[in-house]
Amino acid sequence: MKATFLGLDIGTSSIKALLIDEQQTLIAEASVPVSISRPKPLWSEQDPEEWWQACLSAIAQVKHSAPKDFLALKGIGLSGQQHGAVFLDEDGQVLRPAILWNDGRCGREAEELQASLPDFLERASNLAMVGFTAPKVLWVRRHEPDVFKKTRKILLPKDYIRFRLSGAYVAEMSDAGGTLWHDIAGRKWDDTLLAASGIDRSYVADLVEGSEISASLSDELLLDWGLPKNAVVIAGGAGDNAAAAVGIGAVKGGEGLLSMGTSGVLFAVTDRLLTKPERVLNAMCHALPNRWHVMGVTLSAASALSWFADLLGKGDQVGALIAEVQAFANDPAQRANAPIFVPYLTGERTPHNDPEANGIFAGLRAQHNQVAMAYAVMEGVAFCFADDFDVLADSGAALKSCFLVGGGARSQFWGQMLADVIGFPLDLPAGAETGAALGAARLGMLAANAGSELEICFKPDIKLRYQPDRAEKEFYQPRLKRFRALYDAERRTRLT
Ligand code: XUL
Repeated sequence: MKATFLGLDIGTSSIKALLIDEQQTLIAEASVPVSISRPKPLWSEQDPEEWWQACLSAIAQVKHSAPKDFLALKGIGLSGQQHGAVFLDEDGQVLRPAILWNDGRCGREAEELQASLPDFLERASNLAMVGFTAPKVLWVRRHEPDVFKKTRKILLPKDYIRFRLSGAYVAEMSDAGGTLWHDIAGRKWDDTLLAASGIDRSYVADLVEGSEISASLSDELLLDWGLPKNAVVIAGGAGDNAAAAVGIGAVKGGEGLLSMGTSGVLFAVTDRLLTKPERVLNAMCHALPNRWHVMGVTLSAASALSWFADLLGKGDQVGALIAEVQAFANDPAQRANAPIFVPYLTGERTPHNDPEANGIFAGLRAQHNQVAMAYAVMEGVAFCFADDFDVLADSGAALKSCFLVGGGARSQFWGQMLADVIGFPLDLPAGAETGAALGAARLGMLAANAGSELEICFKPDIKLRYQPDRAEKEFYQPRLKRFRALYDAERRTRLT
């Protein structure tokens, strides 16, 4: 019987479980939705118990579709939404709902935190943003002192699931950087940063590398699932973006990925820690030893086009709309006179860290129709990636290769536009996308000693390479300049 490995991804909208064998053949997968609660403006919370129940149900589905293979389970890898804070008491009981990465309540605390240490940016390597963990803890300390008083551990989402799987409090390097308590170059907790949040090392979990063993599956679950004693190790795992990178084989310095999902991510692996906090670059450890990563995050990517298609009543015809946009763009004069769109519909992270930023349509003329506007939306999203690309380069991260993933990557027109706008080739992987859950399962394989990193973290075949066209890049430059100026002007008017 071949050994099998389980990847478990604690996503914001669903929990995904995926079972692979030693050749990484997909044996079974399942996805169970989870709900978000927004009890007040800016709040975004989830119930950790709901994550756990969804994990159990996803694993049960996988087990049900492949009962024999499940019995050969040797390793589990975890990945998950980053930054969320789970507050536990001394008995490991959850004290309040988890505060998520997309919760915006703690603006004041983020500012105070950053101002509290003169060398905050050098220590944390990242800006104190509302999405990160530490300001959430300061918020709870200020607004829910009773909860804070009872708190003994603060865990990231996937580390809470590890606790339920094993009883162990363990965290790992790639997610730790998103807390603002991590010495990212030294790959250890920073006591000064912890103290700035009013906590110390006893509040955080022990750190391992993503590919190391973090814990073993509990005897109780082994028994429940019919597995032999000591059979299953749990890898450190990774934050979802680092896990997706491992899943696509972006593991060496210069290898990267551009993800065009609901939000957008440009991710590059680096051989040493590179930072650019003042331009809102996320810098963290990679999920593999001795490597780091940088990441630019755009909040509205494919979601900007879905938003516009919904407005037109064409939410279920996005493909047809893109075909019309493509025909429109074939006429150079039409394209040069198209409106400009800034897609900051839910604010923007890189390079502005501006949750209040707004979407803008500019340059509208009587001759413009919905197709011209849809063109502008697609181009505006590509311009967000141009900014991310620029910030990455500014940090010193030199991309050597980059895979294009995410729902928006299905459009060849958009893929080519992205490559032209950023001026860098983008590789479309062949085969179905399995993302962060596959990366997690690969880390499970590494922890279970099922092969070397070279053997396990291979790259998919390339279905298509979008080569950037220099003339096209030139075409976009004046429009990109206007895009940037529009945001600057909007910000100025908003703040006066
Ligand atoms: C990364 C980030 C998101 C979450 C959600 O910094 O905030 O990508 O990890 O999945």
